[in-house]
Amino acid sequence: MTTPLIAPSMLASDFARLGEEVRDVVAAGADWIHLDVMDGHFVPNITFGPDVIKAMRPHTDKVFDVHLMISPVEPYLEAFAKAGADIITVQAEATDHLDRCLQVIRGLGCKAGVALNPATPESAVAYVLDKVDLILAMTVNPGFGGQAFIPDVLPKVERLRAMIGARPIHLEIDGGVNPQTGARCVAAGADVLVAGSAVFKTQALGGIEGYRANIAAIRAGQAPARADAA
Ligand code: DX5
Ligand code: ZN
Repeated sequence: MTTPLIAPSMLASDFARLGEEVRDVVAAGADWIHLDVMDGHFVPNITFGPDVIKAMRPHTDKVFDVHLMISPVEPYLEAFAKAGADIITVQAEATDHLDRCLQVIRGLGCKAGVALNPATPESAVAYVLDKVDLILAMTVNPGFGGQAFIPDVLPKVERLRAMIGARPIHLEIDGGVNPQTGARCVAAGADVLVAGSAVFKTQALGGIEGYRANIAAIRAGQAPARADAA
């Protein structure tokens, strides 16, 4: 089975120490840094904008995977590109002009992604497959970390993988990912796993070592601990 890339979501980190948290999670083995932008309009929560992302940028060279949960989204694409985004992902539901959005993102020199809410069908990306570098299947309703994984999305992940075919498009999962749910997503065809709580808030050890153990467990897709295990 594919070894997935792990993209810790800074949403679950300590916002008072964002730069240090970015460095720690990179030292612990993060492949990408996932940055959740929320506007209190498209989703019922507010996080951070381009200036905060710009402030995090000097702390690592890793891919900044920026997930925009904002509407309207078009007026802000350039600001996120200038802030240092490598990938800009827009929600399919947040724009009437998805094709144009994706062209603008690529025109800004970034990779272009489309996120699909749990209830949004895969057909939303059927006619933009040659304009996307990443498809993000939401496995929670966007807005908050720490929600339960919605398994009904798994058949859609399988269908998206079939639609992608040989194209160089990442298939990313976001929401409720832990070593067990992540393994199910990878089996369904995902190659990038976002994880917030499972990296930052599940700490047997603490600090970098805790993050390292958590990231390694998600990457390995460890089976649940058995009660009868030694
Ligand atoms: C939810 C965000 C996610 C969130 C995931 O709207 O898009 O990236 O941080 O958090 P967990 O992994 O805790 O479900
Ligand atoms: Zn996200």
